[in-house]
Amino acid sequence: METYKIMGLVGSPRKQANTYILVKKALEEAATVPGAQTELYELAGKQIGHCIGCNKCAELGRCVLKDDFSELLDKYIEADGIIWGAPVYHMSIPGLMKSAIDRMANMLSAYYMNSGKDLPRYSKVCGVITVGAHRNGGQDLVLSYMTDSCLMMNNVVVSGMTLAGAYIGAAGWSGQPPDFLAKDNVVQDDWGMMSAQTVGKRVAEMTRIIAEGKAVLGEGLSSDYIYKHGPEKYAPLK
Ligand SMILES: Cc1cc2nc3c(=O)[nH]c(=O)nc-3n(C[C@H](O)[C@H](O)[C@H](O)COP(=O)(O)O)c2cc1C
Repeated sequence: METYKIMGLVGSPRKQANTYILVKKALEEAATVPGAQTELYELAGKQIGHCIGCNKCAELGRCVLKDDFSELLDKYIEADGIIWGAPVYHMSIPGLMKSAIDRMANMLSAYYMNSGKDLPRYSKVCGVITVGAHRNGGQDLVLSYMTDSCLMMNNVVVSGMTLAGAYIGAAGWSGQPPDFLAKDNVVQDDWGMMSAQTVGKRVAEMTRIIAEGKAVLGEGLSSDYIYKHGPEKYAPLK
């Protein structure tokens, strides 16, 4: 049986809040799929500056900014499946998450483009989760944005639950809870919690299918499908 890593990326600037609760739920469900190893990574508390557009990554194969980004990039490269979680901030994702995505996508494109290659294909399975304080507060825009980012990074995106009360991986709450911005309001949203669980399960199942498929196909599979690991990670690929 193949093993594979599923990373839950929590893009809220608040530690252990609603996005964390949803992603943790998703990872718990992912862990029930045979072969899955899970890890949760919170951006909260990390120093990840915004991309300055210097394009040095294309030349150097690494980012010139010195902060916590390289740790995130390592985790991203190692993961086979990724659950992206971000709260709605003004109908979009928080700046912290945007900074992380801008740098990750550009860094990886530059890294592979340096060797005349496209990003590896079909290597990472992704699911997306979001939460807003409003029932309909822009969750669909966040899901679209993250899905598009996943596609742009040549990943395979799976959906969450699409039954009547659920929408892919969206959560929110209607009415006024005692504390509108409490860190655990999302537990009131049964459909949202179930959607997150489904995202976790589907990401793990699809990652498993790809991991087992890669093992069976072995040498018959183009290396274009596989991320490079190893000490050369930040050097331009030859
Ligand atoms: C700057 C800011 C902007 C927000 N904008 C929206 C919004 O447009 N729609 C919405 O439904 N909720 C919005 N919210 C509420 C958050 O999405 C909500 O509190 C969510 O639970 C935060 O995630 P967290 O608990 O994981 O930190 C906003 C919150 C902040 C701080």
